[in-house]
Amino acid sequence: MSDLIESPATTDDALDALVAEAEARLSAAPDVTTLENEKARFVGKGGVFTEMLKGLGRLDPEARRTEGARINAAKSRFEAFLKLARELLARQQLDVKLSAEAIDVTLPGRGLVGGGIHPVMRTWRRVEEIFRSIGFDVADGPEIETDWMSFTALNNPENHPARSMQDTFYVDIDDPEGRPLNLRPHTSPMQVRYARMHAERMRDETGASRGITDIKVIAPGRTYRIDSDATHSPMFHQVEGLWLGEDISFADLKGVYTAFLEAFFETAALSVRFRPSYFPFTEPSAEIDMRFETGPLAGRWLEISGSGQVHPSVVTNFGLDPEKHIGFAFGSGIERLAMLRYGVDDLRLFYEGDLRFLEQFQ
Ligand code: PHE
Repeated sequence: MSDLIESPATTDDALDALVAEAEARLSAAPDVTTLENEKARFVGKGGVFTEMLKGLGRLDPEARRTEGARINAAKSRFEAFLKLARELLARQQLDVKLSAEAIDVTLPGRGLVGGGIHPVMRTWRRVEEIFRSIGFDVADGPEIETDWMSFTALNNPENHPARSMQDTFYVDIDDPEGRPLNLRPHTSPMQVRYARMHAERMRDETGASRGITDIKVIAPGRTYRIDSDATHSPMFHQVEGLWLGEDISFADLKGVYTAFLEAFFETAALSVRFRPSYFPFTEPSAEIDMRFETGPLAGRWLEISGSGQVHPSVVTNFGLDPEKHIGFAFGSGIERLAMLRYGVDDLRLFYEGDLRFLEQFQ
């Protein structure tokens, strides 16, 4: 290194011009990539300022110091401008993004969609309300029942067809005592459960009767049968009724049930008939039918309830004395009542979840 140069390699003007050119290029960069490429052109590995600083090695120490200071000052101005240019570009890009995602706060809201009560639940509540108003208690019980509760206690002979696989869903596992379990095919087991509970309350510590108090209850709930057509669904709802006392007769059944129907349908002009029938747990037994007055089924009769005077063997299974306790029971289809009230001709519509159908009841 013998021939060191004394004179400065650059002039102030040239440096100013260089910085001005750099600033112009940075200002013109439309995006981050272009901006960073421009940065590399000036201060990158082979950049203008980098090369100039490398060239300092050829100067003598004195010139190197002053020249180095001038180049570095110019480079600092460049870097300060670069910082500004980066910030400016970031802000511009944020503005573009924000205006693209702008929310028009003056638009009307989408509105809350109100929920509604299902027509079957509406009917269930209505039935409860009416029976409560005439002094009935409301009870609830298990949907998975023992064979004894669903059938035996209700006086069903071992070989009665009601037990068969044709209409009863059996559960694969038995209860802890090894008894077969089923999805209750009717709400009638609730007669037994409620009456047995009540019977216990009617006896004193010695087991003697405290005297007769009426059992007056309804038990609405889900029931299950292997059945599916316009008037049957594998899961459906029934409401059981039981009124047991000293002298509750079939005439009381007719009176109470007719009063219920008149309240339920809000009219006394109803076509109702009690048709002789058979149930193992009632004697005598009747089917209660009602006629559609309007709609596509006008003139057709629909069975809405089984009913009858509670059979003496069943009263015994309640833990009560059939000589002292007498009364009626009924088991009505809640969907059937809803069909008649709303003029629906196919019960399966209730379970299709079609909002066009369901919204009509709100
Ligand atoms: N449990 C009967 C059924 O589901 C109806 C019924 C209830 C009949 C009470 C008489 C008394 O068909």
